[in-house]
Amino acid sequence: LKNGEREAFTAAIDQGTTSSRFLIFDGSGTPRAGHQVEFEQLYPHSGWVEHDPYEILNSVNECIENATKMFFDQGYGVGDIKALGITNQRETTVVWDTETGKPLYNAIVWPDTRTSKLVHELRRKGGSEKLQQLCGLPLSTYPSSVKLMWMLRHVPAVQSALKKDRLSFGTVDTWLLYNLTGGVKNGLHVTDPTNASRTMFCNINTLEYDDFLIDWFGVRGVKLPKIVPSSDPDAYGSISDGALAGTKIAGCLGDQSAALVGQCAFTPGMAKNTYGTGCFLLYNTGYEPVLSENGLLTTVAYAFKGFKPVYALEGSIAVAGSAVKFLRDNLGLIKESGEIGELAAKVPDTGGVVFVTAFSGLFAPYWIDDAQGTIFGITQYTTKEHIARATIEATCYQTKAILTAMEKDSGTALHALAVDGGMSNSDVCMQLQADIMGIDVDRPKMRETTALGAAIAAGFAVNMWKGFDELKSVNRDDRKTFSPKTDEGTREKWFNLWGKAVERSRGWVD
Ligand code: G3P
Repeated sequence: LKNGEREAFTAAIDQGTTSSRFLIFDGSGTPRAGHQVEFEQLYPHSGWVEHDPYEILNSVNECIENATKMFFDQGYGVGDIKALGITNQRETTVVWDTETGKPLYNAIVWPDTRTSKLVHELRRKGGSEKLQQLCGLPLSTYPSSVKLMWMLRHVPAVQSALKKDRLSFGTVDTWLLYNLTGGVKNGLHVTDPTNASRTMFCNINTLEYDDFLIDWFGVRGVKLPKIVPSSDPDAYGSISDGALAGTKIAGCLGDQSAALVGQCAFTPGMAKNTYGTGCFLLYNTGYEPVLSENGLLTTVAYAFKGFKPVYALEGSIAVAGSAVKFLRDNLGLIKESGEIGELAAKVPDTGGVVFVTAFSGLFAPYWIDDAQGTIFGITQYTTKEHIARATIEATCYQTKAILTAMEKDSGTALHALAVDGGMSNSDVCMQLQADIMGIDVDRPKMRETTALGAAIAAGFAVNMWKGFDELKSVNRDDRKTFSPKTDEGTREKWFNLWGKAVERSRGWVD
């Protein structure tokens, strides 16, 4: 009880690229129970990244069961959770048979580059220059459109389902929503505008599917999810089974949009950078979609029922935490991801090493799809500490390149960057980020902002908060600022060296 009334809670499923989480938040945005599960990454060929759709679903259910138990052990009941939101890795593509509900192929995950030849072929076909204007995204291996096209060309089960009019498509939010609300029995087939805006099928202005795009990618006949608001008390149904059976689902946001909401960046000009498997900088541009001329994406920030949709410019970096994982799992340089900062801090600089972590080509603002992961400047002086430092710096330099592009597109310079996600836990990483960018880095104490954003979308729909102003105080306490300790000349010298390395990482294989 709080002030004589029973406390109200909101919860979030956060289904990321390498792990799933479930968190239960109180009205001040403090997590009161949670659970996290890592799941398997499948790399069947070089450049391919897949997930088993059932493993994704099972990991989410495991998190719900464990976190809910923790919550119930504190004396609360299922009725205390007023609503639940979903946030998810975006673009990752799942297809299933409408009649059986069973997946027809593994999920193709967003950094997968198997479509690079297809993308080249599509670039030669007329009309590709119109795409970004219509949907906000340039043609690349990244969005769902080309992943679905690849399945339609190469997977017989997918081809046959299309012929029988039984091919359902979804991003991970849709796959989870479908299964959590009853699956093949009566599961809903829905998505929200933030996720739909990553498929290339959705018109960025109308937030509806666009006939030109559907035909251009040759996906007519595929059953696409209905697009409903990101925060809506009636559109998402409720959980059909398990510990939270009956709980209303009322919010859904792609993970980067959720982090923007979780940072309460509701005012145009506010931005956040989330260091997850990849790293994604979103800049709130208000009610108008701004088309980038400098390699950024236009995306939906959030679209709550009853409010005008809000847009963002996005700088997407394909590899951030995944490079740290690479040092841990492939090279064995560290035992835990969290050790990277400590290791990097043992040396004052990289000793001339630059690591272009282009495992999926390079995304924003470069969009070099034939770039390969490349380490430059190795001598016998080089140690694992230098490599660790260069790995962190790769994400920091790409963030700086994105900031520069954003400044050109928006005409205003950021004075501070709000951060969250795995790498932001390291003081060493965040100090390096400030030193490389030349502006302050502002880190909240509670860094589960992605989950918080989805919980806010859900709580908002059921009136836990009545307006955006009420939310501005959420998660504002105990923030830490990292200020740059470098001069402009040094920053410029470093950044030029990085730029040279990027150029040389092109075209190693054809
Ligand atoms: O666009 C991909 C993004 O949504 C994945 O986020 O945090 O899993 O790297 P994350």
